[in-house]
Amino acid sequence: MPDDKASSATARIGIVTVSDRASRGEYEDRGGPAIREYLNDVLSSAWEPVARVIPDEPAVVEQALIELCDQEGCCLVITTGGTGPSNRDITPEATEAVCEKMMPGFGELMRKVSLEKVATAILSRQTAGIRGRALIVNLPGQPKAICECLDAVFPAIPYCIDLIEGPFLTTNENRLVAFRPRKKPGQ
Ligand code: MTE
Repeated sequence: MPDDKASSATARIGIVTVSDRASRGEYEDRGGPAIREYLNDVLSSAWEPVARVIPDEPAVVEQALIELCDQEGCCLVITTGGTGPSNRDITPEATEAVCEKMMPGFGELMRKVSLEKVATAILSRQTAGIRGRALIVNLPGQPKAICECLDAVFPAIPYCIDLIEGPFLTTNENRLVAFRPRKKPGQ
């Protein structure tokens, strides 16, 4: 994709809450709104959310990820929930099933910083991967984990999206500075 087109596009970002109970309306989805709030706070470039609340069913999670990446044109898809060890937790497997390549550094770094806050961080199998021109990142379901994890990995996300020819994301630098070795002229 030519750079001009990429930089002028409004980035579409998928926000996927994976939870049996939230998808049945048994409790309010707090993770999805927390991700949206985080992105509003951190991103200075134009973006729009494409949100889904879905059950912990492998085929449903895979289909949602495929749709967000391939039909909805999301450059980034952030999931919350379903990363633990229990029987219904299948978000990392669904992510791996739809990705062409995995980005294990994201999960490694999120677990590292999370372990400084909670011992239970070892229970999250969260990962990340690339499908086409989209980066998919898993977060745990705990709303407070969202900021803890995204603060750790978000600095790498704009450059990762550059490398897969997505839109040029910029951040509010007083809130979070993105790691980008090669800046565009005038940036
Ligand atoms: N990571 C952070 N940063 N903060 C947390 O509170 N909770 C943990 C872990 N990772 C947590 C965290 C817990 S209690 C679990 S069971 C696993 O993530 C998996 O959560 P999930 O199944 O809701 O994705």
